[in-house]
Amino acid sequence: MSLASVIRAEKKLLLPTYDRQKVLFTRGRGVYLWDSNGKRYLDFLSGIGVNALGHAHPAIQKVLKRQAGKLIHTSNLFYHEYQAELAKRLAKISGLDRAFFCNSGTEAWEGALKLARAYARVNNSNGHKAKWRLLALENSFHGRTFGSLATTGQEKYRHPFAPLVPGVNFVAFNDLVDLKRQFDGSVCAVCLETIQGEGGIKPVSREFLQLARELTEKSGALLMIDEIQCGLGRTGKYFAYQHYGITPDIVTVAKPLAAGLPLGALLTTDRVASGMHPGMHGTTFGGGPLACAVAIEFLRILDGLLGHVTKLGQYFVAELQNLRSKHAAMQDVRGIGLMLAIELDSADVAKAVVSELLQQGILINRTHDTVLRFLPPYIIEKKHVDEVIRALDRSLGKSENHNHRGHRGTHTKHREKRVG
Ligand SMILES: Cc1ncc(COP(=O)(O)O)c(C=O)c1O
Repeated sequence: MSLASVIRAEKKLLLPTYDRQKVLFTRGRGVYLWDSNGKRYLDFLSGIGVNALGHAHPAIQKVLKRQAGKLIHTSNLFYHEYQAELAKRLAKISGLDRAFFCNSGTEAWEGALKLARAYARVNNSNGHKAKWRLLALENSFHGRTFGSLATTGQEKYRHPFAPLVPGVNFVAFNDLVDLKRQFDGSVCAVCLETIQGEGGIKPVSREFLQLARELTEKSGALLMIDEIQCGLGRTGKYFAYQHYGITPDIVTVAKPLAAGLPLGALLTTDRVASGMHPGMHGTTFGGGPLACAVAIEFLRILDGLLGHVTKLGQYFVAELQNLRSKHAAMQDVRGIGLMLAIELDSADVAKAVVSELLQQGILINRTHDTVLRFLPPYIIEKKHVDEVIRALDRSLGKSENHNHRGHRGTHTKHREKRVG
């Protein structure tokens, strides 16, 4: 099938939810993807943080083939060999006790929201004032289902679907005073991403996270952390909150967990898990034997990759900083490990750079209008970073020449309504 015929067919047959780049990928290996014309692309987006081990990893293929020939699905009415083993590994690396498995990030977050409400109900049945409010952060992103949308602090995602789930208030990002002002005994959970991903790669501040931990601990509310994008090795530690010296009550993960198969999880403590009983929550597909067997293999490989992620992340940041000193359009370099971004001073330039890199065979994306996001596979090497830096250098130089205004601050900041 040609790209043109796929585009024609999709236009007629699919719900128009995506504004796709005009590329038809047919295979991948390691850090590279190939399209239907045989053109090779260096993948610095890894399917938005999913393909952390790159494409067609031999060890993952081996587990997939073995398990697909043995057992793919049973339903959660019965036991299989892998959920407990996977939960044990996740508990060990997170400092938490238990897991619930589902199929996606948004489902993990929905489960976490339900758990927070359920726990608060049981925990406050002894005469305390009811806890039901959720405090989430402005500029956050937690997914597309109703609970996740209700805690997502970006109007463009929420607006078409109002009214959303009630009981949610938004705190200004990293604003300690606002958090103190809005926090009281009616709050059942403070919800946040350690590093806001869709919001433009913005790490929460140490002071803010510590205050959220203190306030929730004192009042018996929960600290609920979404590590769907920043967790599972992306920042060079198993979890991004481990850079901050705190442990949450609930953490959600998904994207890279099963190396490309759909699998999400919420992790929590024994104490909080006491809020759930059989029949209160569940899923048909979540935590099936195929996805769980692959996830166990992913975590085994991840153990040996964390140091590499840290080293390559430091190298990449240093190279981006060098580039910043050369290009007026670059306003900021942000992120930890291999979750990195540069903020440009114009949405038009950001858009042009993404499509120019695509032309040159490099995949990155743009989030939050002016932010170029890099989520490469954990297996990249310095030469791959160098290739991306050279391409960015060329592309930014071109756009500056094109605008004839290569000095800082001359581009006008232009906000678009929707981003891809
Ligand atoms: C922080 C965060 N939470 C939740 C989600 C939703 O995950 P999914 O698309 O798997 O439902 C995403 C997806 O980008 C995310 O980045």
